[in-house]
Amino acid sequence: MKFFLDTADLAEIEEAASWGALAGVTTNPTLYSRIGGKLDDFHDHIKRICELVDGPVSAESVAMTRDEIIADGRKLASIADNVVVKIPTMVEGLAATKVLASEGIAVNMTLCFSVPQAILAARSGARYISPFVGRFDDISEDGLTQLENVVAAVNNYDFGHDIEIIAASIRSANHVTQAALMGADIATVPFAVLKKCVEHPLTDRGLEAFLKDWEKVQNA
Ligand code: G3P
Repeated sequence: MKFFLDTADLAEIEEAASWGALAGVTTNPTLYSRIGGKLDDFHDHIKRICELVDGPVSAESVAMTRDEIIADGRKLASIADNVVVKIPTMVEGLAATKVLASEGIAVNMTLCFSVPQAILAARSGARYISPFVGRFDDISEDGLTQLENVVAAVNNYDFGHDIEIIAASIRSANHVTQAALMGADIATVPFAVLKKCVEHPLTDRGLEAFLKDWEKVQNA
């Protein structure tokens, strides 16, 4: 499974990239607003992210009609070769995906919450499909089972083009563990969750013991 970072924060992206495991970035309007992003700077900001990451960078269209999404998608895709156009799972989004995919533009179909939505996204030509986990948990439903169903269903078929499932709305290291066990291709994670994935209490305890014993060696 590959790790993407779910953020628009350049410092987080730079730091995660320095760890050597960063395969891509996903952004959305909320994440861009969280860093104080301004409309005028949006395309430049996506360009800066694309320069930091050796992998796909999802930039979301907030248009609501197919023609607007297509126009937006073409503009976003022209920012850099590694831009992936993120489009919500809805009728207008599917129609726009069909056109953009036929032009060779990679689409990440987002806000996916069911197997039928995922299959429709795949049929429309989406290169990436993003089933959300945490938002099910927010309403006391089982997001991991939903993710497992999407992974199994999409892998049942050959859609005639490469498709990768991005486990999205990931809130914990356990979500990451389960996504990997299910065979999700990618987990897109907030920086705080990525840090948690590096940590383990037994690693800390082991390190503490090594340092103490090394002090003994130095003083011997
Ligand atoms: O990339 C979108 C997705 O990961 C959002 O996550 O935490 O807002 O549900 P969240």
